Amino acid sequence: MKVSVIGATGAVGRTILKELESRTEVSADQLSLFASARSAGVELDFRGQKIKVQIYDLGEVAKTQVCLMSAGSGFSKQYAEQIAAKGVWVVDNSSAWRRDDRYPLVVPEVNGAVLKSFAQPTIIANPNCSTIQMIPPLADLESAFGLERVSVATYQSVSGAGQEKIDTLAKEVRAEAPYDSLGEHSLAFNVIPAIDTLDEQGHCYEEVKMVVETRKILKLPTLDIRASVARVPVFYGHSENLFVDLKKSVSLIELEEVLQGSSHYCYKRTKDYDWLPTPRRVQHQGGILVSRARLGWGESTSKTVQFWVVADNLRKGAATNAVQVLQLLANVGSNLG
Ligand SMILES: NC(=O)c1ccc[n+]([C@@H]2O[C@H](COP(=O)([O-])OP(=O)(O)OC[C@H]3O[C@@H](n4cnc5c(N)ncnc54)[C@H](OP(=O)(O)O)[C@@H]3O)[C@@H](O)[C@H]2O)c1
Repeated sequence: MKVSVIGATGAVGRTILKELESRTEVSADQLSLFASARSAGVELDFRGQKIKVQIYDLGEVAKTQVCLMSAGSGFSKQYAEQIAAKGVWVVDNSSAWRRDDRYPLVVPEVNGAVLKSFAQPTIIANPNCSTIQMIPPLADLESAFGLERVSVATYQSVSGAGQEKIDTLAKEVRAEAPYDSLGEHSLAFNVIPAIDTLDEQGHCYEEVKMVVETRKILKLPTLDIRASVARVPVFYGHSENLFVDLKKSVSLIELEEVLQGSSHYCYKRTKDYDWLPTPRRVQHQGGILVSRARLGWGESTSKTVQFWVVADNLRKGAATNAVQVLQLLANVGSNLG
């Protein structure tokens, strides 16, 4: 399979290369890497071989069958449709097309089947990193008990904002900037209670993405969902606390039976302080970890349940999910043209 990666030098792009390295679909001579003029001449390692990063060129990308794109939403808005029109499947990591009804928004293990209805190459949107990791357990709870309302609070790592913010946090914690002189929005030793722009109602765009994308993927257009996001001084991995109101009352055993039964994430019961579901446990790994399921204190059954979800935002929140989409396309090989 011939694959192009646009944004190959970025935090997501480099992680896509690691994901592809560990799978069999793509060999080095079938892989083309693209970025902006800033990265001209950069060489990236792939299975021990050096691959030169090229400046984006439509004609070169058109020679591939699948394009894994992570160059920001401005780039995607400008070029993704042109690339798809050339007969290339575009798996886009940006927010550019997620809300567009013409294009599927895919978490493969939950709604990968939607791709069957696309006979011709199209844009396939990868959901936002904070949305992806909560979707598989929410889908299971919807099918077992029905969802009434979802409230989620996030604690998101700096790598969610790209390579530059990873470097900034590293500099700040090395005290290259003295603690007292760090600004209001410094990443180190701080919690920033909004991600992306704020709207007139007081919601930030990251929260809006979580609401709109969850409704689209779960096909629950009126689901009552509220999100509150924060950036925390963690390098890799987003953590999320979910309060979910179900349509029926459940016991903790019934709840854990559903979560434990999934092959799409690992559910771990946590009654032991020595084992806690931190982002460090999932960093650089492709899986989702669900834990700390509980009802209200002292309750034996409840409609309101609570649990914790962690995943590496660059892995399952971006690169792993994109490469799983690529595998889906490969499995229905006739689609690749
Ligand atoms: N970070 C995450 O956890 C995450 C998760 C899900 C989705 N996303 C989305 O994925 C996208 C990339 O995020 P990132 O974190 O990887 O950002 P990043 O580290 O800043 O990387 C951006 C990449 O895009 C390339 N690029 C920028 N402008 C370009 C242009 N005009 N032509 C070609 N390449 C261009 C950059 O190339 P140069 O090296 O040449 O500048 C770089 O390779 C964003 O839309 C982001 O919202 C990120």
